[in-house]
Amino acid sequence: MSKLNRRQFLILTAAGAIATSATSWAIGKNKTTPHQTKALPSKLYKSSNGLLELDLEASSTRIDLGGKPAYLLTYNGQIPAPRLEAKAGDTVRIRFTNNLSQPTNLHYHGLHVTPTGNADNAFLDIPSGESLTYEFTLPKNHPSGTFWYHPHRHGFVAEQVFGGLAGLFVIRGELDEIPELKAAKEEFLVLQDFALDGSGRIQPPNQMEIMRGREGKLMTVNGQVNPQIAIARGGLLRLRILNASPSRFYRLAFENHPFYLIATDGGAIGTPVELKELLLSPGERAEVLVRGDRKSGQYRLLNLPYDRGGMEMMGMMGGGGHMMEGGMGMMQENTQTKPHVLATLTYQGSVSSLPLLQQLISVEELSEPKTVRRIELSMAMGSGMGMTFTFNGKAFDPNRVDTQVQLNTVEDWELVNVDPDGMAHPFHLHVNPFQVISRNGKPEPYRAWKDTVLVKGNETVRIRIPFRDFAGKAVYHCHVLDHEDLGMMGIVEMKS
Ligand code: C2O
Ligand code: CU
Ligand code: CU
Repeated sequence: MSKLNRRQFLILTAAGAIATSATSWAIGKNKTTPHQTKALPSKLYKSSNGLLELDLEASSTRIDLGGKPAYLLTYNGQIPAPRLEAKAGDTVRIRFTNNLSQPTNLHYHGLHVTPTGNADNAFLDIPSGESLTYEFTLPKNHPSGTFWYHPHRHGFVAEQVFGGLAGLFVIRGELDEIPELKAAKEEFLVLQDFALDGSGRIQPPNQMEIMRGREGKLMTVNGQVNPQIAIARGGLLRLRILNASPSRFYRLAFENHPFYLIATDGGAIGTPVELKELLLSPGERAEVLVRGDRKSGQYRLLNLPYDRGGMEMMGMMGGGGHMMEGGMGMMQENTQTKPHVLATLTYQGSVSSLPLLQQLISVEELSEPKTVRRIELSMAMGSGMGMTFTFNGKAFDPNRVDTQVQLNTVEDWELVNVDPDGMAHPFHLHVNPFQVISRNGKPEPYRAWKDTVLVKGNETVRIRIPFRDFAGKAVYHCHVLDHEDLGMMGIVEMKS
């Protein structure tokens, strides 16, 4: 971790010591002026009578971002994209049109649906100007949770997601029926960062930024800069948070309010877990409860600095080349070194105190694996100046199946970040959610369904995957999307 100055250290300590601190961190109205904009929900499309049907268009659009014009890539003109909501067993039909200047496609991140045909097929290519109707059916036992959709055309993913193409895909169900959660106020937080020049156009990343994974200084929540999130005194807030940034990690902390984690990528956990901080790497989601049990006022939602690692290795690989040195300087400028205010929790009104629930939905224990595989994550010198990112030493090849699995079996995958002081890579698998078993041999503290898991430098993460229902080819990849585009992706074939 980079050295912090004293002031930053104090702020961090304050954010990290919520539980023990008696000091109120309410911000007086005169001390800061957060933008007094209300978080506007993006347009909502809900299924009815078992069908979710809509038209979706990707295009470049001029929108207002943080009070300034921005030229971004949008679905239906919105940042974030419209929120989709369906239930287990529903059919989803999306008439999609690509009005971008590049090929694209759609991926339904985290959904347990078929990866073939016009469903969650990452191999589809929709050329500029063309349309395709996506159609698939959610299994009747699909878990409820916070999922999302974004482009997945290999080679263009980072650029298009960084342009803004991302939206929530919520499956309603069991979790939403728990009375305490029904009584809570639900808010969605879609975290996106942007790098814009003075005229609001997206700044193209340099080579070093691409290898590191592009980040932008402008951090938005639901397409807004520092929006207010209202909470009633005594009330309960249910926040459903998505990291839709291509590379930025969010290390979240509320002033004076702990998070109570209730769901991860794939849905509910067994019992709430109290957290002072919540780390979300790209692609990950979390649902947390926040209690309105402090002094009325305003409290900041902070993004704390996070070191993604690998700087030493990147420097070494640069070997003192001029381009790389320039790139390195640029990059450090874009690296967040102090806490950043993402949103402001604002007390409004009061309700009679709502209890925190004790019991959620128990997560099944998976049977012992039939097969254990090892996947090594690393970066290597590529051709020319660049680096490639690999699984087991190989860069992505759309014509090669890397892993064959048998349907209706359980496998353990050992994800090993083999680079000394390696960069942190969020590993993501399509179609089949998994459970994290251990990190460096240490068992995970609680059972949870995940589809994206962070593998830090010097770490070995063991995940357990039940392969169910769907035969066909799907991908797994690093969700720092530049790494995916640079080759850190493999193909798994599920055979019946
Ligand atoms: Cu959200 Cu294959 O990705
Ligand atoms: Cu995905
Ligand atoms: Cu990566």
